[in-house]
Amino acid sequence: MKFFIDTADVDAIRELHALGMVDGVTTNPSLILKSGRDILEVTKEICSFVEGPVSAEVVAMKADDMIAEGRKLAAIAQNIAVKVPLTWDGLKACKVLSGEGFMVNVTLCFSANQALIAAKAGATFISPFIGRLDDIHLDGIDLIGDIRTIYDNYGFDTQILAASIRNPNHVKDCALIGADVVTAPPAVIKALANHVLTDKGLEQFNADWAKTGQKIL
Ligand code: E4P
Repeated sequence: MKFFIDTADVDAIRELHALGMVDGVTTNPSLILKSGRDILEVTKEICSFVEGPVSAEVVAMKADDMIAEGRKLAAIAQNIAVKVPLTWDGLKACKVLSGEGFMVNVTLCFSANQALIAAKAGATFISPFIGRLDDIHLDGIDLIGDIRTIYDNYGFDTQILAASIRNPNHVKDCALIGADVVTAPPAVIKALANHVLTDKGLEQFNADWAKTGQKIL
């Protein structure tokens, strides 16, 4: 399973990139706001060292305007995935942009039928939002499973990019159910390494080692 990092914080991406944890990056207008940076400038900087797909989102509502924005974003670097919303206009833009050879990430997906129609429109990635479904007491992981079944039934190439990942259990559940990619905030990726018994075990080992009076270096 690939890890994309869901942030426009360049320092955080660099830190994880140095550990080989970054297969790609996703951004959205809220994350651009949080970064305090210009979208074109920050996206270009991310693409200067991230080799995998970097999603940059259009903000227009009409297909023609989305297509124009998408072309401008795609001109930033070869590894840009143009992110379009799962609306009818977004699907039209997806069809045109993917037909021009650009990667397209269809975002704000909350149902299996939306994922089906995005695949038919040529989406490279579909982004079902798990956390936001959980927020309204629906099961985001069930949605990932349904999309996996549908895409496998018909051999769709569209990759399932599980988004709105809020905790390590989401990552594990997505891996078990067969999501192609998870996009998670840096803090969630880092939390994957944590376990209370690891901390407890290390504490004990350190205490015992101090009693030996030995040194390795
Ligand atoms: C996906 O591409 C979005 O950027 C993101 O995962 C949304 O996450 P949130 O629901 O935690 O804002």
